[in-house]
Amino acid sequence: MTLKRTRISLLMLSILFATSALISCNQTLPTQEQSRGKAQKAIWPRLSAAFAENEAGQAVEDQIEALLEQMSLAQKVGQITQVEFTFITPEEVRDYHIGALLNGGGAFLNDNKQASLSDWLATIDQYHLASMDTSQGGLAIPIIWGTDAIHGHNKIFEATLFPHNIGLGATRNADLARQVGALTALQVKASGMDWTYAPALAVPRDDRWGRVYESFAEDPALVAQMAEQMILGYQGDLREKHIANADHIAATAKHYLADGGTVDGIDRGNNYDSEAELIRYHAYPYFAAIQAGVLAVMASHSSWNGQRLHGQKYLLTNILKKRLGFDGAVVGDWNSHGMIDGCTNSHCPEAINAGVDMLMVPAAWREYIANTIADVEQGRISMARLNDAVRRVLRMKFRSGLMSAGKPSERPHAGKQDLLNGPQLKALARQAVRESLVLLKNNHRILPLAPRQRVLVTGEAANNLAQQNGGWTLSWQARNTDNADFPQATSIYAGIKEVVEQSGGLVELSRDASYRTKPDVAIVIFGEQPYAEWQGDLDHLGFESGVHQHAKLLERLQAQGIPTVSVFISGRPLWVNRELNASDAFVAAWLPGTEGGGIADVLFADDQGQARFDFKGVLPYSWPSLIEQSAVNLGDAQYQPLFPFGYGLNYSKARYLAHLPTDDSYALRLAQQARSILSERTHEPWEIYAVDEHNTHDRFRAGKAQAGALTLSAASDAERRNAVHGRWSGEQSAALQINVPNANRNLKQLLIDDGALQFDVKVIAAPSAPTQLELACLGKGCDASVDVTTALRESPAQQWQTHSVALTCFARQGLDFAHLSRAFSLLTKGSLEALVANVRYQPNAALSATIPCSPNTTQIFENNH
Ligand code: BGC
Ligand code: BGC
Repeated sequence: MTLKRTRISLLMLSILFATSALISCNQTLPTQEQSRGKAQKAIWPRLSAAFAENEAGQAVEDQIEALLEQMSLAQKVGQITQVEFTFITPEEVRDYHIGALLNGGGAFLNDNKQASLSDWLATIDQYHLASMDTSQGGLAIPIIWGTDAIHGHNKIFEATLFPHNIGLGATRNADLARQVGALTALQVKASGMDWTYAPALAVPRDDRWGRVYESFAEDPALVAQMAEQMILGYQGDLREKHIANADHIAATAKHYLADGGTVDGIDRGNNYDSEAELIRYHAYPYFAAIQAGVLAVMASHSSWNGQRLHGQKYLLTNILKKRLGFDGAVVGDWNSHGMIDGCTNSHCPEAINAGVDMLMVPAAWREYIANTIADVEQGRISMARLNDAVRRVLRMKFRSGLMSAGKPSERPHAGKQDLLNGPQLKALARQAVRESLVLLKNNHRILPLAPRQRVLVTGEAANNLAQQNGGWTLSWQARNTDNADFPQATSIYAGIKEVVEQSGGLVELSRDASYRTKPDVAIVIFGEQPYAEWQGDLDHLGFESGVHQHAKLLERLQAQGIPTVSVFISGRPLWVNRELNASDAFVAAWLPGTEGGGIADVLFADDQGQARFDFKGVLPYSWPSLIEQSAVNLGDAQYQPLFPFGYGLNYSKARYLAHLPTDDSYALRLAQQARSILSERTHEPWEIYAVDEHNTHDRFRAGKAQAGALTLSAASDAERRNAVHGRWSGEQSAALQINVPNANRNLKQLLIDDGALQFDVKVIAAPSAPTQLELACLGKGCDASVDVTTALRESPAQQWQTHSVALTCFARQGLDFAHLSRAFSLLTKGSLEALVANVRYQPNAALSATIPCSPNTTQIFENNH
């Protein structure tokens, strides 16, 4: 054990040395072309095998080979398929030999978000038994059940939940991360599940990204350290013994690679880093995770140099598997393979060939399995690649102890409520909360507070467990929960009340800072509303810009001579200068989870006036000094944060914070700016597609796309250099769309500012049938259209013309511009030939719109969505 540790830290050191040497003497970073060339492979470290070569390891390999020999093609393909459980029955798991199930972020058991441990066990038992049923020729290979237990077992009712990783990063306590991993593993075990999609290893560069809180820090070394220990906590140390005991689960390092380094922090966006930068920032934590024996790596939804990670053979196979020696399973993310050019959710040999071993096919699994079997039969996927994928999945199953674990409800920890929310969990979670708090301001040393006084507790997050827990809690976006969904939890208010009342003080709770008795001090608890993934992406880091609801509340209190202590709940640093000014003390509390009592522990002194716990947390991310400073990171050449990485006051370290500038007009200017969707190229994150009548999308790449009756090509036009040339043959309906795949953007301010959608078009052959301009937002029945037939027919042939439609035309039909997912679509059943260029959203342009709002009378696609 000690020996092993030394080997690892020596190895980490040599990697550090190798990469930093490389970065300092190689000033010219590789070009994009080079970065994909063979030569670059040599700059990646070569890791030694994480798992010891010994008898135990050989025994596992022998059993894998023995199983593989017995498996039919259908059994192999089923084994490497991961399905969302609400889309499949136990009988189908048996009949299709499914290898893995998951409960998705948005799924509930029996539509009940309060399902109990025994409800879960009863259901999981059925699926497990189905996978073990040999009556139809099955081989009795147990299904592995994956879940997003990312801050404790957060999808399970009544589970004690830890701070999200951002808070753990603030503690700098890797040992704590290991204990959190170990207790989370027991929670997962109690529910009969086997595998968590955690920890996230992202190194977020731009804090506008909606997944900053899922990661520990902006510093790759800190991420590596915390992740390594957390993985050892979840899985135990398997490197010598190869097989986990009943206390542990499989972990997943995610999302590989560079999910935290996309342009503008756009979720599922594109990363253009050189390979040297990939190594230095984004791959670095994976070295530690692989060395710790992580059993799975999840591929990222994002792209590198324009290519989706799920299709990146170089990074998945050449680097991860060969160079870094990862021998576990590469698992796909939610339908992510479907975003590869040429793939759909139900068919994607490209992803398997690139090196994904187990695709996540939540719903379209039936077609996917049939297609994949055909791919192997017809040689599009080789048997060798399929066997390799199966081996890796089985390796994860053996190593995690699943193969001999037995029926979920009969496993040692099954159904034990104590393992879900017992005293040991509560104590550890409360400790984690205490250690995660970062004190940013404590003017006049107002903290710690005496408990025996009149305390007003106010602000939107004071008694709000959904906000305190953040995204991925019970539900995916975590917005549809209330305090009744968390009977096990202590709100921040409840924790304060307990401490103050015990000492004979008085507590009042109000949302809007009103009170009956004038308080001696006010604790104002506020921050971000819960979000997950792209729904949390921001345009800028300003908090409550323009509105400043909580800054005003703080200012009102200060105007009455009441000292203010702010507790800020957020998944990332935000620009809060006005709120800081209006606070005498300011604490960054991140997303603390269910044990809100940890906050009062630190804020309040004992009855003798001595601090009971000091602040220990320091910043895991640099804090911005300007609203537009969304990417300020440790190591920047021009590093000018408000508070640097590692900053944090405590009761012996004081620093007076003077008044800060508060001009946030940038936020409004930004929202009011015209948005270019397509000009020289499409702007991130928008992508052009040809879409046929069955809604099959072909992405416009290398100047081409084709779907059904529509062919797109790049036009070499003298006047508009980057136009798209569309030819609709008229046999079936088809559309030229500009979408943001599986996501959305907020363009609401442009609607408020009388905006219009403008585009340039050069008609070559006028439409022979009704043609519509259609937009869509995320969600059902969320599209709206305007008839553009006349406008196109009347456009002078062969000449560029700018058209525009007021955004209100679409908003009136119910389109939600806050969640726009399709910014442009030209849709017709007829024939049409036209060039399209310069698609943009322009403020103050509604009055001069050229195309009137028209009722949507023509139904073009019968069943479009
Ligand atoms: C997320 C993953 C998650 C998976 C399953 C995806 O959309 O990107 O982080 O593990 O869904 O819920
Ligand atoms: C699922 C999540 C997934 C998300 C993103 C949701 O519907 O429940 O697990 O992460 O979609 O695609």
